[in-house]
Formats: sequence, structure tokens, C-alpha cells
Amino acid sequence: MKAMVIYESLTGHTRRLGELIAGELVGRGIEGSVCPITRIDLDALSAADVVLVGSWVDGIFVVGQKPGRASRLRNLPAMRGKQAAVFCTFALNPGKTIAKMTTIVEGRGAAVIGGMAIRRDDLEGGAVELVDRLLDALASA
Ligand SMILES: Cc1cc2nc3c(=O)[nH]c(=O)nc-3n(C[C@H](O)[C@H](O)[C@H](O)COP(=O)(O)O)c2cc1C
Repeated sequence: MKAMVIYESLTGHTRRLGELIAGELVGRGIEGSVCPITRIDLDALSAADVVLVGSWVDGIFVVGQKPGRASRLRNLPAMRGKQAAVFCTFALNPGKTIAKMTTIVEGRGAAVIGGMAIRRDDLEGGAVELVDRLLDALASA
């Protein structure tokens, strides 16, 4: 099983979370790599069985939340036939960001099997929980 984490990050929280998730995957025996959305390793993407796409929440904190720099997500390479999961970091309230990311990533052809919003003040705990949920979802997919 090969997993790839692709992240969009403005101030570093989502980058850090992406790195923690990749480390957690490797710790559980899964080959995991991580790269920013602006420099995607296309060979690694083509070899990946599951792709985790992360971004941050952009809004006015209680309304209008959406994935940060959503156009970058909409321009992801085609991921037909791949399983995917989405995640985001947020400060206060993620709103419908995960649902919006799911729609965007499905639009790139991937089958999204789960998503999780992670508060930026517990990235370590969030990474462990996300990988737990991902492995459960993959086992029952
Ligand atoms: C322009 C802007 C708008 C934001 N809007 C929201 C918001 O509506 N809700 C929220 O919970 N966090 C909001 N945040 C906080 C970020 O989502 C949070 O700090 C996130 O972890 C940033 O990720 P990054 O460090 O990878 O860029 C906003 C941050 C910025 C810069």
C-alpha cells in the first residue's frame, strides 16, 4: 500500500499536519510520501493507492468557510481510479470545508472515502485519529 499526502498551506499548519500524517503512515508500515500542492511528484502520485489532500479553512470564521486557495485543489492532476481522503486545519469553525473539498477531489476522478477537519492546536492528535479512521475506511472499502 502506497499513500501520498498533498497539502496546500499558507502559514505552515497544514504542511506540518501533512508531514505528521505521512510519518504516522510510515510508522504503521505504509509507504507514505508528502509534497506541497505547488510541487506534486507525479511519479509518486501515479504509484499511490490512496491520496490524502489537505488544505486550510478560509472564511470569516463563522460563515462562508471554504478550502483555502480552492483553485489549486480544482487544478489537481486527474486521480481517476484512486482512493482519496481529504483533511483541513482550522482555527475556530471549519463550516462545510470538508464537504466542499470532497466535491472538488471527486471532480478530479478520485473516490473520496473520508474526510476530517483538524483544529490547528492539536495537529499531533489529529494526525493519529485521521490515520486510524483512514485505515478503518480502507479495511472496509
Ligand atoms: C484569510 C484567512 C481566513 C481564515 N478563515 C477561517 C475561518 O473562517 N474559520 C476558521 O476556523 N479558521 C480560519 N482561518 C484560520 C486557518 O484556517 C488556520 O489557521 C489554518 O490552520 C491555517 O493553515 P496553514 O497554516 O496551513 O495556512 C483563516 C485564516 C486565514 C489566513
